[in-house]
Amino acid sequence: MVQSSPSTDRSSPLVSIPAFDAAEDPDLGTARPELLGPVPGPHGVAWVDLLARHECPAITARRARRAEHSGMAQDPLVWERALGSNVWDPDGNRFVDLCGGFGVVSAGHANPFVVEAVRVQLELLVHGLGDAFPSRPRIELAAALARICPGELQQVIFASSGSEAVEAAVKSAVMATGRSRFLAFEGGYHGMSLGALSASHYRPGFRQPFEGVLGGYADWLSFGVAEDDLRRFLGQQLELPAAILVEPVQGRGGNRCAPDGWLGMLRSLCDELGVLLIFDEIFTGFGRAGALFQAGSWSADGAVPDLLCLGKGMSSGFPISACIGTDQVMGAWGLSAGEALHTSTFLGHPVGCASALAVIELMEAGLLQRASALGDWMGESLRALAARHPGRLGRVTGRGAMRGLEVLPAGDSVGLCRRMLQRGYLVLPAGLGGEVLGFTPALTMTRAQWDGALLTLEELL
Ligand SMILES: Cc1ncc(COP(=O)(O)O)c(C=O)c1O
Repeated sequence: MVQSSPSTDRSSPLVSIPAFDAAEDPDLGTARPELLGPVPGPHGVAWVDLLARHECPAITARRARRAEHSGMAQDPLVWERALGSNVWDPDGNRFVDLCGGFGVVSAGHANPFVVEAVRVQLELLVHGLGDAFPSRPRIELAAALARICPGELQQVIFASSGSEAVEAAVKSAVMATGRSRFLAFEGGYHGMSLGALSASHYRPGFRQPFEGVLGGYADWLSFGVAEDDLRRFLGQQLELPAAILVEPVQGRGGNRCAPDGWLGMLRSLCDELGVLLIFDEIFTGFGRAGALFQAGSWSADGAVPDLLCLGKGMSSGFPISACIGTDQVMGAWGLSAGEALHTSTFLGHPVGCASALAVIELMEAGLLQRASALGDWMGESLRALAARHPGRLGRVTGRGAMRGLEVLPAGDSVGLCRRMLQRGYLVLPAGLGGEVLGFTPALTMTRAQWDGALLTLEELL
């Protein structure tokens, strides 16, 4: 029988989940900001000078130098170290990260329980042999995902980024249906690699220069499209799509929730027509949006997709992702005859798998309940703030610890983010036109850190 993993011989995971009302302590990552000088400071600026010489200007940190939107200097913050919800720059300034590293650090930055699992794994086996020879953590994680995912989602393809997980789902749907068109939604974001970008609609400008090398396999309808319009569209096509690809809550699109009943309608329609349903839960997964997964939860009307894409919060920081499908869909790949039809060098990276196993343990030990307390408070306090500033703030979007706050007039959010940074809070704009402030903090953020952020925001308004 399988022996216990080395990664389970650790102290209780509970120890590394600070209480919602935990006291401020920089050694636990639960402190509020402390700025020792200007933001960014001289050391940070010197690092960005070096970056500006050597990194392609496509990357945001380089582009940020331009003062286009806010009229203020846009040098990014260089991250030196991070713990919990705190991030320090090279000048010793301490910040609070309201983006949770793009929603990645589910258990907080450098959660001690996850770091210990990683350390143990690093000493045992850093790199496996992709698809050819599996490592033990990869096998354990495959089994753990099958246990925690809803419905019949039992078989996994591992990858390193969210985009790759989406592409694995796209390929699986093609294998299972023999069809090659996909239906996705306006405002949807599925990644930047060519295959995932072909299905992304968020910011058409991301696709436009590359149209010549994109697959062009997706059509887009409005997010929340009425059933009649959807049926009419499908009826006009020469061939049914292989699958419908949807984010249950659009993340980059502005933390927009699908309308009530809509995901359930998609599930029924897919069943009726023999079309597969893919949930891209790379952002919403692992407790981010009020449930472990939207799949199978009340917020998705109980709908379970045929393929589920996970990434981001799965490992709280290590690049690993997964596409999980039903036996029936994954079975369509057939038995491998010789070389794998789909693989990658770092598939099921042992260290990534060990960190994901640690995150699952944390979720089950109480992180998930902790996340829902945080998410409820975020929603309540944001709505109260918006009500106090009707001319400056609009809708509160999202669910759980994945929220958007609309800033009026649209376009002011970029400048507001910069002013928040200069007060020690890291927040990024989200939404189709960057019209909302996006809040996706570590699920371990304390109430004092969150309240401090909103107080600062209110002062700036
Ligand atoms: C819903 C969703 N899908 C896919 C991706 C792409 O993931 P990655 O950037 O890891 O390739 C993202 C990233 O933000 C995402 O939010």
